[in-house]
Amino acid sequence: MTKTLTDLLEARLTRRHFIAGAGAGVTMSLLVPKLSWALTPPPVDVTKSAVLKPGWTESILIRWGDPLTPQAPAFNPAETNPENTRDQFGFNNDYIALFPLGERDALLVVNHEFSDPVLMHGQRGKATAKARATIEMLSVGMSVFQIHLGDTGQWSVVRESPYNRRINARDTLCMASGPAAGDARLITTADPTGKLIMGTLANCGGGVTPWGTFLSGEENIDLFFRGRATQGPEAENHARFGLGNDKLMQHWAAVDGRFDAAKEPNEPNRFGWVVEVNPKDIEGIPIKRTALGRMKHEYTTAISGSNGRCVVYLSDDEENACFYKFVSQTAVDAENPANNRDLLDQGILYAAKFDDNGDVRWLPLIYGEGPLTPEHGFNSQADVVIDARKAANMLQATPMDRAEGIAIHPQTGAVYIALTKNPKRSVSDAANPRAPNLWGHLIRIITNGHEDLRDRWDIVILGTDKTHAQKEVANPKIPYHPKAIPFANPDNLTFTPDGTLWVCTDGAPKSAGVPDGLYTLKEEDKHWILDQVYRVPVGAEPCCPTVSPDQKSLFLSIQHPAQKSPPHAPSTRWPDFSPKLPPRPAVVVLG
Ligand code: FEO
Ligand code: CA
Ligand code: CA
Repeated sequence: MTKTLTDLLEARLTRRHFIAGAGAGVTMSLLVPKLSWALTPPPVDVTKSAVLKPGWTESILIRWGDPLTPQAPAFNPAETNPENTRDQFGFNNDYIALFPLGERDALLVVNHEFSDPVLMHGQRGKATAKARATIEMLSVGMSVFQIHLGDTGQWSVVRESPYNRRINARDTLCMASGPAAGDARLITTADPTGKLIMGTLANCGGGVTPWGTFLSGEENIDLFFRGRATQGPEAENHARFGLGNDKLMQHWAAVDGRFDAAKEPNEPNRFGWVVEVNPKDIEGIPIKRTALGRMKHEYTTAISGSNGRCVVYLSDDEENACFYKFVSQTAVDAENPANNRDLLDQGILYAAKFDDNGDVRWLPLIYGEGPLTPEHGFNSQADVVIDARKAANMLQATPMDRAEGIAIHPQTGAVYIALTKNPKRSVSDAANPRAPNLWGHLIRIITNGHEDLRDRWDIVILGTDKTHAQKEVANPKIPYHPKAIPFANPDNLTFTPDGTLWVCTDGAPKSAGVPDGLYTLKEEDKHWILDQVYRVPVGAEPCCPTVSPDQKSLFLSIQHPAQKSPPHAPSTRWPDFSPKLPPRPAVVVLG
């Protein structure tokens, strides 16, 4: 493999179209139809398989059930049991981070967001209900494993690596640290310390710290609980997180009573955190960093700020939830990574107020300041971080249109945020200019070093569907040069060093005219060039593009292929296409 991702992009016809058009003085609105050419469906059946842009290659790195250790058995859908599952790659892989180990090796850490009883057990009849729930608990969390770049340019899993391990919801001991550790609201029947938490779950987006550890965001924790407190101190908190609707994994409560939130009302307070894992510490205990607040965490994008402190931008993925950043109290020790071990325990969590005049004001979530007092139910900083969503609302931070991916521009330092959609929005504001917002948008924070308490923001692009594109361009309420292009529901983001933004979409409506996929967006002279590189098989969602250090490979998670189709007749059997194998979430490598 000789070409970098940038080389591949430079070869695009799209770029030549744009440059010719711009030279002739063509306006953005006239460019919109030209941009749309890349979205013409290719002449293949996109309902079954993934589709890749010509000139690119795709390989499958690892699938659900693939063994991570020499002892682990190969995936066999007829023989799945808890023992076999323990050291196999988990289900519904999501955020991916890569940690180099020399020239040709790296550690990959991959989140596993949720188990799906229908897709996981559809082809099996033997496992008991208890075994199934246990398999599901073992299949979420994270996978840590070594990969190697072979002479042919292909990455493969090193099964013999001592680093390989699974972190799961069933039996991985985690610890809480920071303001809520040991608080009475984290104490349960099983844990009188309020610090020792069995497992992690709902591991969705994430990030990497400047000192080389992995941050995993616990997101939709409500999927995993049965019931909720209807009275008492946690009733409001449970309702705010959507507990009690008995969702996908509510049957776990029958196997492990801590997942019955009505009976064990503090157990949900032990989830919804950012979990830090050092992939190079084989015995390392995952730490739930409570100073970063409890919410439905998506991305946790970290950077060293202008004064050297660690700044972590935090998205809370729910309609009308807010956007946050954490700033550590002390500076990152770039020389000695071990000195940063507790850096995320001391600092200030802020929620963002996106003013209509283009200012961003960062509002501190500090116990005793402003409305964060006993009068409003806050009796300590532990209460502030456990109920960070309530605190942000009381400070009048801006409710957003489902913030998900966060990426920092490699040259300008601007913080790009994907807002997927918000059909529930009834009143618009400048940063969320459409009510309802069906197709999402991208905004950015323009900052002078990440640590200031006042920045500027602007809208990057507004998603739209094909039929509404021209109307959106003409919408006078959109406070920027028309940027609406046929591109819907941006979700996960990353930048390559040349300033190209890689965007996954999730949940694009049929009217968008394009299935979900991986796009590139490149800004030149305030115009955007859009292209689609990859589109996912039916039922699937692309997640978390991650670029290799040599810029030649892009790792991408493909979650829940064939979702919402019957297990005996799945809508696709991607990626194996064998009648003996079910559809399987997998990590693909594009290059
Ligand atoms: Fe798990 Fe917000 O996606
Ligand atoms: Ca996601
Ligand atoms: Ca999403």
